[in-house]
Amino acid sequence: MKGDSQSEGMPLQHVFFAPGRVNLIGDHTDYNGGLVFPAALAMGTYLTVTERLDRFSCGFSSYNEPQTFTFRGDELTERYHAWVDYPLGVLKEFSDRGWSVTGYDFHYRGDLPIGAALSSSASIEMVTAVALNALNGSPFTMLELVQMAQHAENDFVGMNCGIMDQFASGFGKKNCAIALDCNTLEYEHVPLEMRGLKFIIANTNKKRGLVDSAYNQRRNECQQALEIIRAHLPVSCICQLTMNQFDTVSLYLTGNVLKRARHAVCENENVREAVTALKVGDMARFGQLMNASHATLRDDYEVTCPELDFLAEQAQQFPGVLGSRMTGAGFGGCTVTLIAEEQVETFVETLGKAYEERFGLRADFYVAEIGDGAGER
Ligand code: GLA
Repeated sequence: MKGDSQSEGMPLQHVFFAPGRVNLIGDHTDYNGGLVFPAALAMGTYLTVTERLDRFSCGFSSYNEPQTFTFRGDELTERYHAWVDYPLGVLKEFSDRGWSVTGYDFHYRGDLPIGAALSSSASIEMVTAVALNALNGSPFTMLELVQMAQHAENDFVGMNCGIMDQFASGFGKKNCAIALDCNTLEYEHVPLEMRGLKFIIANTNKKRGLVDSAYNQRRNECQQALEIIRAHLPVSCICQLTMNQFDTVSLYLTGNVLKRARHAVCENENVREAVTALKVGDMARFGQLMNASHATLRDDYEVTCPELDFLAEQAQQFPGVLGSRMTGAGFGGCTVTLIAEEQVETFVETLGKAYEERFGLRADFYVAEIGDGAGER
């Protein structure tokens, strides 16, 4: 443990970090038992944990948020509809399993844009999970921490998310993307050999309203599709279907239920092919699959918005760009673009200007730096 200054009469202090993620391809496949291909960012959330003199309560503060909170151990069951719900949900996971969570002050500091689909919430959950794990002598594996963080978000926060974001934050590896099968939880780190290319993230800075309810609605539509499909084929999730199998059952599906399921199957095949393309260095193919992914997220899954479509479509036509798509849940947030390194500067300038003219909003751009997963720093 670092920062041991108890000998000077100061309380013990530990610093942890958990990254956000950018999903390169494979959105809205995780909760359909499919493949995803995210990478952990070098940006994320730092957590400094300081021992309190009293062992019965805990305090929460954040450099990024004005509200601070102090709770006694028996007050940790209630949701506050504030940022503190993310750490509280994780504390509850630990205390429900009989581990100690009080006696600490938790101070968070994040450098991710908040609510921009780069998993700022998962990084808060994961940094809390790795911290509590370390402070309790590491009773849990990283996979268990990931599952506890996802459960906290599903049950405590009320967002019925899949496992991708917490997994990417926990299992990230510098300069690698993670090919994860969300059905089996088998995964592989795939080195990002960029061959003179960069992934650049463009943040629409569009305020996202009601994302949780629109997201949960998509999940329900997929559940309905699965129930209908299962009357005809013995599958446990939508992404187990090949496109050919889907074609045979699609006549039983209609409307939104048909469209949502079609995206999931198609996107899953896109991810499988994209991972292979990256492994053999076929970056042009990778880019085409990114474009195809954006198209079904827009037309079938209907989770894009004019701002995301504008940024992705302008990028797709830009010299030196191999592919561009929205990333994450959608409804706002960010795009990710695969682009020749020497074009990055012109791209940022040109797209930034065009976007501001069109929407009166400034976009932010980040060259994606891919870092390691959650742990003590
Ligand atoms: C959010 C969720 C993830 C995943 C993506 C869409 O980020 O937290 O589980 O479903 O949306 O791919």
